[in-house]
Amino acid sequence: AQDTKDKNTQAPAVPTVTLTIDGRETTVPKGTTVLKAARAMGIHIPTFCWHPKLKPVGSCRMCYVQIEKMPKLAVSCATEAMDGMVVYTDTDEVKRGRRAIIEFILMNHPLDCPTCDKGGECDLQNLTFAHGVDDSRFDFRKYRFTKGASTTFDDKRIGPEIILNRNRCILCYKCVRANKEAFGEYDLGVYERGNIAEINAAPGEQVDNPFSGNLVEICPVGAL
Ligand code: FES
Repeated sequence: AQDTKDKNTQAPAVPTVTLTIDGRETTVPKGTTVLKAARAMGIHIPTFCWHPKLKPVGSCRMCYVQIEKMPKLAVSCATEAMDGMVVYTDTDEVKRGRRAIIEFILMNHPLDCPTCDKGGECDLQNLTFAHGVDDSRFDFRKYRFTKGASTTFDDKRIGPEIILNRNRCILCYKCVRANKEAFGEYDLGVYERGNIAEINAAPGEQVDNPFSGNLVEICPVGAL
């Protein structure tokens, strides 16, 4: 009778899927993303917008991988692992794709690493070095935000603990998502579209919550 009771109270088995990443087979719970499956195997895939505690949005495209039978490169942070999937994380095509993403980000990002507070611990700087990209083919003038007509600098205080430099922002939305999803705060947002899209404090407000220091930490570049 005890046996029957134990069997009845056992948690149902979690469904799993088996896929191959870089020639090695792995089995993961259904619903796991390709990125998480790869990381669990010790395979590093670069990311900007992904964070383990936030819902994936696939906005930066840095985590490209190649998946057999898929016509284009896929973002591994927002692609669910499927049974029988064959994934490659380090092919020439993947490297070309990631290089193109960095080049695209550098289109407007200033190359001011020597004077940037994040210099030396910046994800963009590290990945730029790692991928051998030092410039962008987009050779028109970079779009520039300025604090006011009398200055070419953008540094502006948006809260007691945060100074924002919109020119350095790569629009990964990590800060805005963390503020909402993890901290339950709504005082930081994204405004406008395209080149002039900007992260900023909500109109008339300051980003002033007990977690605002964490937002500076979570920014992968020196924008906050
Ligand atoms: Fe996957 Fe940004 S990390 S799209």
